[in-house]
Amino acid sequence: MLNKSIIILAAGAGTRMKSTTPKVLHKISGKPMLYFSIKESLKLSDDITVVLYHQAQKVKEEIEKLFKEIKINFVIQDHEKYPGTGGAVMGITPKYDKTLVLNADMPLIQSSELEKFDLDATIVMSVLELKSADGYGRVVIENGNVKRIVEQKDATEEELKINTANAGIYQFETKYLLENLPKLSNNNAQKEYYITDLIEMAIEQGKVLKPIVVNEENFKGVNSKIELADAEVIHQKRIKQQFLKEGVIMRMPETIYIEEGVSIKGESIIENGVSLLDNAVIINSHIKTNSIVENSTLEDSDIGPMARVRPGSRLKNTHLGNFVETKKAILTGVKAGHLSYLGDCEIDEGTNVGAGCITCNYDGINKHKTIIGKNVFIGSDCQLVAPITIEDDVMLAAGTCATKNISKGSLAINRVPIKLIKNFYYKFFGKR
Ligand code: UD1
Ligand code: MG
Repeated sequence: MLNKSIIILAAGAGTRMKSTTPKVLHKISGKPMLYFSIKESLKLSDDITVVLYHQAQKVKEEIEKLFKEIKINFVIQDHEKYPGTGGAVMGITPKYDKTLVLNADMPLIQSSELEKFDLDATIVMSVLELKSADGYGRVVIENGNVKRIVEQKDATEEELKINTANAGIYQFETKYLLENLPKLSNNNAQKEYYITDLIEMAIEQGKVLKPIVVNEENFKGVNSKIELADAEVIHQKRIKQQFLKEGVIMRMPETIYIEEGVSIKGESIIENGVSLLDNAVIINSHIKTNSIVENSTLEDSDIGPMARVRPGSRLKNTHLGNFVETKKAILTGVKAGHLSYLGDCEIDEGTNVGAGCITCNYDGINKHKTIIGKNVFIGSDCQLVAPITIEDDVMLAAGTCATKNISKGSLAINRVPIKLIKNFYYKFFGKR
């Protein structure tokens, strides 16, 4: 922990996202952008303030769900009076002598990068050397020294050609910040109070300014859906490289999507096109092509290709083949090779679920459970109308619609006997 306060600016409308969702709630690898700045900040500081305004309540609720029982201060920017990144910082009293200010639209930021700002200076600012600084504030340098930051909308033709950009993270001496925020003006193209004007003011006051050159990938700002998609690609690569390092096998990793929060342990194989979502846990398991696992645990199991394990499922020593869907299914030592829906159920060891078997769990109002014991043989195309219990060692004949509990060792069959009508085909269609 460093003795410094962190302010995260998340009050902007994010108009360039062209969306009714607040910018900082747009997701990267399944979590809102703001989640990542907070997560990294928590590694460094116990005084974190998040500034909100647009849809503040919604943003606060989403974030509190993700950081339960962790203390984060939320403040509302006086946006009507003081719009802009400078306005966002006004009215906050940081606890420590140094304050790090982060834009919340930088989901790739890492705490190790933030540690680099821990220098002795009135302001430490981050600079990007880019091929094109389009979209960023430009850093005006004269005689090798930073002079000021000019926003794209305020820049002259000449200034627009500058490829040195303001990355959008600053460390201030808190005293300097509090003394100079009231001096900001909104005399610019956007009629906003810019935090970036504090740089020029510090230079004019003869204060020490230390620019640090940072890496574009970690400091990437997200203002549009294109940048959101680009940032997610980078983030995905990071997640997958970590798992590869830990010994997971991935086939064509660039086609695999793994959300923040997923864990993969032991000798697991993830094939191409797989999506692992939310808090999925994969232990010693093989996930075949184009399968999806969401918020479920798989241990010593194999699924797919094209299986879908929906939230609340727990599979152990289980095989699911193609087009098998589960939801809240507790499967232990089960085989379901083809085309089944197994929802709200518990199925025990040695049970075989035939092709096309469906748990009818929903009566239109409520969901009901199906309990299936050990070593049950379920023939193809059975419907199990829940609530229902099928005890151990039961056989269900193919095509059975089971509507009541079936006791241990029984055969259940409710087929209509087949009737043969000789030469019906020819009577119906005539000779062809
Ligand atoms: C800002 C910088 C720019 C820098 C870029 C880096 C300013 C004036 N410009 O531009 O120099 O190159 O970041 O990514 O600071 N916010 C508020 N309240 C507001 C306005 C914005 O909290 O009134 C928040 C936003 O939610 C966002 C962050 O501040 O998280 C930055 O705002 P944004 O509009 O994205 O600024 P940029 O145009 O990207
Ligand atoms: Mg931005």
